[in-house]
Amino acid sequence: MNSFNQAISNIGVVPVIKLNHPERDAAPLAKALCAGGVPVAEVTFRAAGADKAIRLMKEACPDMIVGAGTVTAKEQIDATIAAGGQFIVTPGFDPELVAYAQEKNIPIFPGCTTPTDYHAALKFGLEVLKFFPAEQSGGLAKIKAMSAPFPQFKVMPTGGVSLKNLAEYIKSPVIAACGGSYMVTADLIDNQKWDEITALCKQSRDIVEEARRG
Ligand code: 3PG
Repeated sequence: MNSFNQAISNIGVVPVIKLNHPERDAAPLAKALCAGGVPVAEVTFRAAGADKAIRLMKEACPDMIVGAGTVTAKEQIDATIAAGGQFIVTPGFDPELVAYAQEKNIPIFPGCTTPTDYHAALKFGLEVLKFFPAEQSGGLAKIKAMSAPFPQFKVMPTGGVSLKNLAEYIKSPVIAACGGSYMVTADLIDNQKWDEITALCKQSRDIVEEARRG
């Protein structure tokens, strides 16, 4: 893996975030994630102002890796780059968006769950794919089956990952990292439960480290 993908993989979990009040929540959330040993965030365009949130998170924690999720348009890639965002995640495989991100030199993790998606990804020299929605698409069993014909890819499963199944995913060498919203739910963010977010991040990191040791 290249050093950027390796840095994300080393952390092991990628919080998938929807921020309704970036001005209020972006900075304390960034600090809460970093305090929990999870200095990475996928800020989704499911809420307007995702680019503003990315900018505020980077300002609060400059060493944190912050990218954009639920990207479905080129303009969102431009807005992410302008805000200092460092990666793009798309729910599905859109070759135009992948080509555009590569032209703009920003890493992209497109959502892929089928052999057809993986074929398409091969043409772009990608190393890491988002596998979304993971549990609903067949989970680890499907990820392993897909890696037989496509051993060149590592994946970031997202969708249905929680503290309960994180270890199982992370133990597999085909997993680069797991994405999830369980440590940054709407309830936790809306009620500004920063300490709880930090605690969930710490638990996640402990699980990742133990799974990789074992
Ligand atoms: C995503 O967009 O990647 C998922 O909605 C996150 O899935 P989760 O909420 O099940 O973690």
